[in-house]
Amino acid sequence: MNELDTLVESARQSFAQALTPADLENAKALFLGKSGRLTELMKGMAALSVEGKKTRGAAINSAKQAIEAALNESRQALADAELQAQLKAEALDVTLPGRSANAGGGLHPVSLTLERVEQIFGSMGFEVAQGPEIETDWFNFTALNTPEDHPARSMHDTFYVEGGHLLRTHTSPMQIRHAVQHVKRYKNQLDAGQGMPEIRVIAPGRTYRVDSDATHSPMFHQCEGLWIGENVSFKDLKVVVTDFCRTFFESDDLILRFRPSFFPFTEPSAEIDIQFQSGPLAGRWLEVGGSGQVHPSVVRNMGLDPEHFIGFAFGMGMDRFTMLRYGVNDLRLFFDGDVRFLSQFQ
Ligand code: DAH
Repeated sequence: MNELDTLVESARQSFAQALTPADLENAKALFLGKSGRLTELMKGMAALSVEGKKTRGAAINSAKQAIEAALNESRQALADAELQAQLKAEALDVTLPGRSANAGGGLHPVSLTLERVEQIFGSMGFEVAQGPEIETDWFNFTALNTPEDHPARSMHDTFYVEGGHLLRTHTSPMQIRHAVQHVKRYKNQLDAGQGMPEIRVIAPGRTYRVDSDATHSPMFHQCEGLWIGENVSFKDLKVVVTDFCRTFFESDDLILRFRPSFFPFTEPSAEIDIQFQSGPLAGRWLEVGGSGQVHPSVVRNMGLDPEHFIGFAFGMGMDRFTMLRYGVNDLRLFFDGDVRFLSQFQ
C-alpha cells in the first residue's frame, strides 16, 4: 500500500470511529483542513517538476476524492443512527388500550360546594337568586354606596366591556337587584303600611377581578347573603353564619370571629374569620368573607325606608370554602381542567 492509500485508509477509520457529528468534523479537519495531512502533501508538490506535479497531483486528487466520499458516508451513517434513535425514543405502542371513553363525568368541586351552600341556606329559609355576570356600574358600585372615585373601587379593578358595562367584581349587586324585585312584588302591601315578608336570600355565582396568583383567580366564586326585615339584628347574622359554617364543614367546635372592618355598603362592617379546633388547620384564623349591617343609603336604593327596615348582608368566597373543605392549596387547580385532579371529587 502506498503512502496515499494508507492516508485514505486511516481517514476512513477515524471517520468511522466518530460517534457524533462534532467528532466527525474534527476528524475531517485532521485530513482535509487547512493544515490537514492532505493539504500538507499538496504543499510538498512545489518542489516537483512539471511532469512530477501532474502525476503526483492526479494521485493526491483521487485520494482527496476517496477521503471526501468516506466522510460523506460517515455523515450519512451518523444521521441515520440519529434518526433511528429518535424513532425509537418516540415510539408509540399502538397496541396499548385507549383512554376509557365512559369514565363518567361529574360535578366540579366548586359546583359541589355551591350545591351544598344552597342546600344549607335553603334549610334555613333562604331563597336562591341568580343574576347577570355582566353588570352596570350602578348595581356593582354606585347603588352599593361606592360612587365614582370612591377609594374602595381601586380594590375592585375589573374588566370593562362595551356600553359602560363591567364584569361584576362581587355578588353584592344581587342585594340590590333582588331587594328591588321583592319590594316591587309587595308594593301594594307596603303602600298600605302592611309591611312585607322578610327578604332572606343568597346569591351564589361567578365574579371577576384583575388578580391572579395561587390564591386569586381573575374569575372566582362568591356567595352573597341578605336578610332584611323590621326586626333583624347582628345576632341573627352571627347565628346564621355560624350555623352555616359548622354545617358546611361538619364541625361543631368550629369557632367564628367577626373582626371589625370596612365596606362602603355596610355599617358597621366585619370580616368573618373561622378557626378549626382539630385537623391540619387547627388554631389558625382563616378569613372566609365579609359582612355587616346594610348601610342606610343602600337600604334606600333598594326602595325601602331605612327608618323601618334593617338588614344584614354577607359575602363569602366559595373557592376558599372549597379549598378548606378538601385541603386544596392552589386555587388554580380548580380552573386547569386536569381530569386527574377533578376526578378525585367524584
Ligand atoms: N362584596 C365584598 C367583597 O367582595 C364582600 C362583602 C362584604 C359582602 C360585606 C357583603 C358584606 O355582603 O356585607 O369584597
